Amino acid sequence: MRAYRIAAIAGDGIGQEVLPEGLRVLEAAARRFDIDLSISRFDWASCDYYLQHGQMMPDNWFDTLRGFDAIYFGAVGMPDKVADHVSLWGSLLKFRRQFDQYVNLRPVRLLPGVPCPLANRQPGEIDFLVVRENTEGEYSAVGGRMFEGTERELVLQQAIFTRHGVDRILHHAFALAQSRPRKKLTAATKSNGIAVSMPYWDERVAAVAQHYPEVQWERQHVDILAARFVLQPDRFDVVVASNLFGDILSDLGPACTGTIGLAASANLNPERRFPSLFEPVHGSAPDIFGKNIANPIAMIWSGALMLDFLGRSQGPCRAAHDAIMRAIESVLLSGPLTADLGGRASTTELGQAIAAAVMQAPLAVED
Ligand code: NAD
Ligand code: IPM
Ligand code: MN
Repeated sequence: MRAYRIAAIAGDGIGQEVLPEGLRVLEAAARRFDIDLSISRFDWASCDYYLQHGQMMPDNWFDTLRGFDAIYFGAVGMPDKVADHVSLWGSLLKFRRQFDQYVNLRPVRLLPGVPCPLANRQPGEIDFLVVRENTEGEYSAVGGRMFEGTERELVLQQAIFTRHGVDRILHHAFALAQSRPRKKLTAATKSNGIAVSMPYWDERVAAVAQHYPEVQWERQHVDILAARFVLQPDRFDVVVASNLFGDILSDLGPACTGTIGLAASANLNPERRFPSLFEPVHGSAPDIFGKNIANPIAMIWSGALMLDFLGRSQGPCRAAHDAIMRAIESVLLSGPLTADLGGRASTTELGQAIAAAVMQAPLAVED
């Protein structure tokens, strides 16, 4: 049987509380479905490591991680100790770039039992994917400052849109839309205000769309698109966006489905030349860290996405993914629940309940 090698990195803050629950559920799923998971934990990519070593990761981080099948990642950032751009450019953003994880897939789904902050919305009515470009765009370290400390102070921040980078994320999103029953794609733009990169993005959307005649596609300026997440979330199926727009939309979407404590993500290198990375959308939540009240479901759902990717949506890994999702859904209906879901349970109690449900999952998966 093939062993999957997973590098587990907790990072900072609630990353350290939710990662163990994610691992608990993964280990339960591996036992139940007879999957050989070999998990190695690393304590770097954290602000504590930075305070001791002056950098977020050891020099050999790339060679250490590149042989793994996947990275299972908590969260990074302790802005009171280390500036956020230092900690994130020194860890997570390095992973995404150096491992060419150019697809950031972020499902948005209203699950049964979760109170929806939008009026009159039922499970099934909000079910879409944010496909976020993950290696270029507005996220860039190119730019500079001049005349610092004077009244003429000037700051330039460059965005980078390459044909290679734009086309590959659009192809991925269109192909995904084509594979889904509704076959709809919405491309976020802002070509009315951002006069160079976004008209280019729009052009490439129209060009790539030619390859997917079955997909019904549209462009929306990101401002009204954000408003429609709230007003008409049922109209979305696949939403593709540049790095920054995708970042914002992928916090807004899950907030519309109850809590960002549920939001999972997959940072994919679809060609599998490098390990892909699976992590919650949320951050290290310093405001609740240390209380054991963080919702671990985003971490656990990300683990399910990891198994599905590793097993290419087939066989025991697919069955384990499905069992984890059913376990999440059953616990959301019956409890225990964390505070963001209106309950009083701890992170650990929720993780244990989901792991227990996975252990009882039927082995033959019925549709
Ligand atoms: P955040 O996502 O950490 O927290 C935002 C709010 O959501 C907080 O009130 C927090 O308590 C709540 N929250 C987040 N996750 C939750 C969970 N699982 N259960 C219950 N409540 C939850 O965002 P922030 O406050 O903007 O950032 C804090 C730090 O995390 C910063 O250093 C930031 O750069 C970093 N960050 C890291 C990642 C990552 O590693 N992928 C993502 C986002 C932010
Ligand atoms: C996310 C986070 C990161 C991002 C930050 C921490 C750099 O917000 O994964 O959504 O903006 O990509
Ligand atoms: Mn974000």
